[in-house]
Amino acid sequence: MNNKDGAVDHEVKRVLQEQLEALDDTDDEDSSRHSPSRGEKVLAELATLSHAGSKTPLKKSSQHLTEAVMEAARSTTLDPKQKAQAVYQHSLSLFSSLFETPTADFIKNTKSAVGSVVEMILEDDDTAINLLKVTSHDYYTYTHSVNVGVLAVCLAKKLYKNKSSHNMREFGAGAFLHDLGKVKVDPAILNKPSRLDEWEMKRMRTHPYQSYRILMDTSQLSEECAIIAMQHHEREDGTGYPRHLKGNEIHEYGKIGCIADVYDALTAKRVYKEGMPPFKALQIMKNEMIHHFEREMFENFVLLFSK
Ligand SMILES: [Fe+2]
Ligand SMILES: [Fe+2]
Repeated sequence: MNNKDGAVDHEVKRVLQEQLEALDDTDDEDSSRHSPSRGEKVLAELATLSHAGSKTPLKKSSQHLTEAVMEAARSTTLDPKQKAQAVYQHSLSLFSSLFETPTADFIKNTKSAVGSVVEMILEDDDTAINLLKVTSHDYYTYTHSVNVGVLAVCLAKKLYKNKSSHNMREFGAGAFLHDLGKVKVDPAILNKPSRLDEWEMKRMRTHPYQSYRILMDTSQLSEECAIIAMQHHEREDGTGYPRHLKGNEIHEYGKIGCIADVYDALTAKRVYKEGMPPFKALQIMKNEMIHHFEREMFENFVLLFSK
């Protein structure tokens, strides 16, 4: 595996910068990139997505949801199964609201909540295992986000054990927020039950970059963690998107995001397909998709389900 020490090195930053420049060149519908105050513009755009006319002040609602997740994650009275259920359900509520109102404040609060969940996963093996079991297979972007976050943090815990060089709170925030850019994709495309045409696919495929841009422009995440958002659709053999990176060109965090993302997509139930049972999904990933993943990392992922 590359970058064993965890920190994002100059090479990764250089590759990322190239990606951004290349994408900016091809981002045909987004003229905001030439604005000197792009960050402000993105924040203003995001603010317009907030509930117009909502009776509950956003900040209070966001704080309330965040506190509920943190409280569940830090509970000392619930047993592991109850605790996993409480953390999962409160996380779903939080992410469901976040995807409706992805403001900078809300992202900041969500990051704190995710930090508590990450700490709980790292410190409490029993609850972490139960958390993997309670993940729902109904497919909504927010359900998927929480599932991928849990799966990715559990895999990172296994890979990095007690290595202090990895900031797991930042990593977790990147994993839970990897698809946030979908708020910029037309819901008609996101929820289309049939195959996407070429134009729709092109719009859909902007979401890793849109996630990256939101996270960086709202200054809520370190660059190394926004890489999960940017690279979770890259594939080990270079067949992914947006940059067709391969092998060591993909950051380890991007590779972890990829495995968690594919697994959840396979096991999720959609309007047009049943969700696969976990074992079947792992089998298909091994037999038909193994060239998409780093083998050693995939083997560690499989071991997560062996308990
Ligand atoms: Fe995605
Ligand atoms: Fe995803």
